[in-house]
Amino acid sequence: MSTELHEKGRVDGKMSADDVTLGLLREARETVRSSPLGVINTPMIPWCQTTLPLSVSCNVQIKLENMQKTGSFKIRGVANQFARRPKGGRFVTMSAGNYGKSFAYASKHYGSMGKVVMPETAPESRSVLIQSFGVEVERVPTSCLMNVVNRCVHEDNMSFLHSYDDLDLIAGHASLGMEVLEAMPEPDVVAVCCGGGGLLAGVAAAIKLSGRDKTRIYGVEPEGACTMYKSFIEKKPVAMDTKSIASGLAPPFAGRLPYELCQRYAEEIVLVSDEEIKAAVSTLYGSGLVVEPSGSAAFAAIVNNKIPELEGKNVVCILSGGNVGKDELGDFPD
Ligand SMILES: Cc1ncc(COP(=O)(O)O)c(C=O)c1O
Repeated sequence: MSTELHEKGRVDGKMSADDVTLGLLREARETVRSSPLGVINTPMIPWCQTTLPLSVSCNVQIKLENMQKTGSFKIRGVANQFARRPKGGRFVTMSAGNYGKSFAYASKHYGSMGKVVMPETAPESRSVLIQSFGVEVERVPTSCLMNVVNRCVHEDNMSFLHSYDDLDLIAGHASLGMEVLEAMPEPDVVAVCCGGGGLLAGVAAAIKLSGRDKTRIYGVEPEGACTMYKSFIEKKPVAMDTKSIASGLAPPFAGRLPYELCQRYAEEIVLVSDEEIKAAVSTLYGSGLVVEPSGSAAFAAIVNNKIPELEGKNVVCILSGGNVGKDELGDFPD
């Protein structure tokens, strides 16, 4: 990507879906692959139908991002974001979850001064974990999150790194889509958990720009946090009051660039209930996989027949994160 293009996006946030090219994604893929943060090419394995049969008869391959460095796919985008920003910079973000963890890990590695603004409702253990990487945490009421970030930007001269609406982040996430195609060159269907839409945007762009016109890519959102679903209907990124057990999938609005890319490259958004997500977490756990609720939604959509025409198809299901405590797993059905 030219420096000029890069600066344009970073300064005014006006990147559009047209700026996301295969060349840009390939470059990001190399950055992620060679990142000093140790991002791994996660295994993609067949769902073992002999031990736990699924109700649909198709070839499901699961991509184990729950085994990724820092426990989720977020490190892919973070690796590309940090690689393209000044070393030792001062960065602020807003996250209570997986992005915050990857951001903190990268801040420590790059020796940058990081700060995470977090809703005071987030578990205390999250703050402790993020602080353990030497990153400052400020816990504030949810309604004040953006004000505090703005204060850090304008008064403390910090740069804001967005956790889903950021070109470099999305391009880094696209590396996941490219790995999928290396393991399965012509998937019929790919199911992706969707929150603000950064992951879905990156994966869908990578697959479609690589020429897989026939592959159907579905985003999966919780019923109570369906911002991208509503954005598709209203034909613009929308906000809503969200509520779901899958907190990573429940940001209050869909990202602008993610929305543009998802609308261009994804088939549709399907919804799952919190009960279906909980049951998916249990099924996955029962087959030896620790996957958090936000990482299980795509699997929930497949097993509950939310995705059309799966019969006999080659289906990829991305298990996007595994950061869930033993105590939280106790709440799920046997
Ligand atoms: C495990 C997991 N999966 C999926 C997502 C959704 O990612 P995005 O906000 O890029 O749509 C998140 C977001 O935090 C997450 O933590």
